[in-house]
Formats: sequence, C-alpha cells, structure tokens
Amino acid sequence: MVIKKVGVIGCGLMGHGIVQVAAQGGCSVIALETEQRFLDSGLARIEKSLAKLAEKNVEKQKMTAEQAKAWVSEVRARISGSLDRRALADCDLVVEAIVEDLPVKLALFKELGSICKKETIFASNTSSFSIGEMAGASGRPDRMVGLHFFNPVQLMKLVEVVRTKDTSDESFAAARAFGEACGKTPVACKDTPGFVVNRLLVPYMAQSLMMLERGDATKEDIDAAMQLGCGYPMGPITLTDYVGLDTTLAIIEGWVKRYPKEPAFAIPEVLRTKVKEGKLGRKTGEGFYKWEGDKKV
Ligand SMILES: NC(=O)c1ccc[n+]([C@@H]2O[C@H](COP(=O)([O-])OP(=O)(O)OC[C@H]3O[C@@H](n4cnc5c(N)ncnc54)[C@H](O)[C@@H]3O)[C@@H](O)[C@H]2O)c1
Repeated sequence: MVIKKVGVIGCGLMGHGIVQVAAQGGCSVIALETEQRFLDSGLARIEKSLAKLAEKNVEKQKMTAEQAKAWVSEVRARISGSLDRRALADCDLVVEAIVEDLPVKLALFKELGSICKKETIFASNTSSFSIGEMAGASGRPDRMVGLHFFNPVQLMKLVEVVRTKDTSDESFAAARAFGEACGKTPVACKDTPGFVVNRLLVPYMAQSLMMLERGDATKEDIDAAMQLGCGYPMGPITLTDYVGLDTTLAIIEGWVKRYPKEPAFAIPEVLRTKVKEGKLGRKTGEGFYKWEGDKKV
C-alpha cells in the first residue's frame, strides 16, 4: 500500500511539522484542528518554515529563486485544513498529534475507526503511551502503528516506527515508507514505554536531576561533563529545561504508575517541586536555569 493522502490531527508544535514534511514528501495532506484559530496558527507556522527553507535552498544554490518559489507553491497546494473529522474518511494514513492525554486519544481513535475507510492506517505520535491500547480503541489493531517524530520535525532526521503484536506487515511497511518519503530515517521499535529514544533519554535526564538533588555536582558541571565527556550538544539539565519540566514529570509519572517494578523509572523530588512552583523551563523563563527567550541567562 502506498500512502498518498494523509490526515494529521492536531496542528500544534509537532502536527504542523508533520503536515509540512508529508506535503514536502509528495502527499496530499489535510490538517485537522478543533478551532479555526489553532488551524490558522499551525498553517501560518508552515508558511514561515517553508519560506525559511526556500531561502536557505537559494542561499546554498540548491535552487534558483524561481524554482524555490514554485517549490513553495507546490508544497502549499498539497495542504488543506479542516475542523471536521469526516474530511479524513478516505485518507490512506491518519497521524494523531494531539495533546498527550490517553482518554482523549482513545476517544479520538474510537471515532476514527467508525469514520475512516477500512484500509486507512492509523498512527499516533505519542511520546509515552502504549500504541496497543490505542489500537484496541480503533477497532483495527492490524492497521495501527506508532510514528514518533522528533522536535523540530522539519529538521530532526529520525522517526521511530512502532509496531504492536497485532500490526500487520503491510501496515508497518507502508508506515515505514511514509517516514522515508517525509525525508526521515525510520527505526523499527516494539511497543515498549518510550520506544528507543525516550526510554533511554528520560531516565538519563531524571538521573541527572537526582545527582543535583544529592549535591554530587552543580548543574553547570553536570551539563558540562556530559557535553564535553560525551560530545552531546547540550547537558541533561539544560535539556530538561528545553523539553519542559511539566512534560518530563508527566512522562515519568505515567510510567511509574504503569510500570511500578521498573527501577529506571523514578521521579526526582526536585522536579516535582519546580513544577509546583510553576518553573517549567525555557517556556516560562525559568526552570533549573533562567531564560530570556532561547538564551540561558
Ligand atoms: N513536543 C515534543 O517535543 C514532542 C515530541 C514528540 C512527540 N510529541 C507528542 O506529539 C503530540 C503532540 O504534542 P505537541 O507538542 O505538538 O502538542 P501541542 O499542544 O503543541 O499541539 C497539540 C494540538 O492538538 C490540537 N488538538 C487537541 N485535541 C484535539 C482534537 N481532539 N482534535 C484535533 N486537534 C486537537 C490542539 O489544538 C493543539 O493545536 C503529543 O502526543 C506529544 O506527546 C511531542
């Protein structure tokens, strides 16, 4: 099965990027939102990003100015928006990128199961929930996968393609080929908590916060150690500020509840405290560091 028509539900931080890379990959894409203002804001982000990309391509002499202009119009023409889920009925693939709230996602997949043609493959971009649970709600477990993109979607090269015990070979192959068409390198993963990247990354971030709590080293030294010792582009505590302390806490709390026997999943007290204080990281101007926009101060 070749994916030609794609629906993306949620046009926020991740969704707008998925809409864009799918359209760049040649698919016709419908972006679905709950309110016109959210849809407008997602589509405006795509416009801005396409313009920036076109400018870079001209600068690098990959395209002439005319070619860049034509490319932007071509990509843009493949994108449409809707507030009505029924518009997704004949999509080959529907990718969900709404809030990280399991009951909301389950209700959405239940509804999609009754709206979409029987061949439609469903994918979730969830960071922490089980794809299998959503597959159950959709009523078509053989056609459910995880497609976990990374932020910012336009730039990050990876997509994790997650299969459950029920995902058919055909659905998996189609989802993987779609990831490649989006310009990403797909990695295959089973339906395990956090898949590959977050399963390794989130406990590592939590451990760094526990080190801070115990006073093993300062936050600056922990960050410098991992940057200089491992060649990482940023240290784990700066990374936690980037991801958002509330998001990080929500992921670990969900795992602790679901997998109480897994020792790698533990909640650092300092994380709870900061979240209670409303210090959520870069987005609120303070987390473990203070921020002015994108800059640590
Ligand atoms: N932010 C990240 O770095 C990141 C990375 C990988 C995966 N994810 C996952 O991607 C998903 C989306 O995250 P985000 O950061 O883009 O969130 P976001 O809040 O930026 O965007 C979510 C969008 O979904 C819309 N929405 C909510 N409910 C909806 C519904 N029922 N129907 C249609 N639209 C709806 C909202 O209006 C909003 O625009 C989450 O599952 C998250 O865990 C996030």
